[in-house]
Amino acid sequence: MNETIDLLVVYHSQSGNTERLAQAVADGGCTVGSVVVRLMRAAETNADHMRLARCLVLCSPEYFGYMAGAVKDLFDRTYEQVREEMVGKSYAVVICAGNDGTGALSSIERIIAGYKLRKVQPPIIIRGDVSSEHIESCRELGRTLAAGIDLGIY
Ligand SMILES: Cc1cc2nc3c(=O)[nH]c(=O)nc-3n(C[C@H](O)[C@H](O)[C@H](O)COP(=O)(O)O)c2cc1C
Repeated sequence: MNETIDLLVVYHSQSGNTERLAQAVADGGCTVGSVVVRLMRAAETNADHMRLARCLVLCSPEYFGYMAGAVKDLFDRTYEQVREEMVGKSYAVVICAGNDGTGALSSIERIIAGYKLRKVQPPIIIRGDVSSEHIESCRELGRTLAAGIDLGIY
């Protein structure tokens, strides 16, 4: 696998909420034509995708006060293989939760600290029903990341 992935948007979703947010991030990224965007389910993402990605957006629902198991599984499957190649890459996080989201975010950030990625945008936590404003904020995140990639700063 030797394709380029500028912006890799990885998500898990059971009832579709996080998927809508992840799709919005990817749509926003696609507005900058030169940026190659890939939207992938965490379960289908492997070490090669992580290596190829220049900028990573992790989108997870909160389940039981933690990230989704499939997102944790991605870390479990790839950490040893990719950690040295991930140092300094840009990342952002989107959490979709019923009413909290802080447990999912902190669990992801704890693991990300081990990868030594660079947080380039503040995390987004969406609580409750996904609204058009939420979708727009995720689109905006995608646009901002893509613009930064295009400028060579992310
Ligand atoms: C098994 C399960 C556990 C959940 N645990 C939490 C939780 O701890 N905190 C919270 O705010 N929401 C919790 N929720 C609500 C989900 O985070 C919320 O419905 C979210 O939008 C689901 O995203 P999805 O449609 O992408 O799966 C839980 C939902 C499920 C199904």
